[in-house]
Amino acid sequence: MKTSLAQAALDNLVEEATKAAQNSYSPYSKFRVGAALRLSDGTVVTGTNVENVSFGLTICAERSALVRAVSQFGPGIHIDAVAVANLNNAASPPCGACRQMLAEFAAPQSVIVFPAAKGKTTMRFEEILPLGFDMKLKTTASKE
Ligand code: THU
Repeated sequence: MKTSLAQAALDNLVEEATKAAQNSYSPYSKFRVGAALRLSDGTVVTGTNVENVSFGLTICAERSALVRAVSQFGPGIHIDAVAVANLNNAASPPCGACRQMLAEFAAPQSVIVFPAAKGKTTMRFEEILPLGFDMKLKTTASKE
């Protein structure tokens, strides 16, 4: 896929996500995930999945990275690109909750690269979350 971001920058983001996965706390699933966000000023913020014995409180790598980015740089951040990686040699497209959370700070054209069934895949947010919840959208009048 052609993106406005240089391929080298995306490759670097994948490397950072892979490094972050090494810090994964995943004693229950043993699925080690890392995520790296590239902000509009070029800053890269990473995160990893942190599991919990209650299972339901587990936080994914993508949301870890997101809360870290907002905590560090404030609510004005803009995500240009996201990379997801895992150390399990498995597909791991971002879960629905992470798509919705990341989309809050990304543009429809922002890109995300993740390990899919057919290998590393790059998509735009508008493709991975085509009908996300958005309170800014207005309905158009219908005469039905
Ligand atoms: N996981 C992520 O970190 N990101 C995702 O998008 C999906 C799943 C984590 C959560 C849990 O620790 C493990 O992968 C298995 O579901």
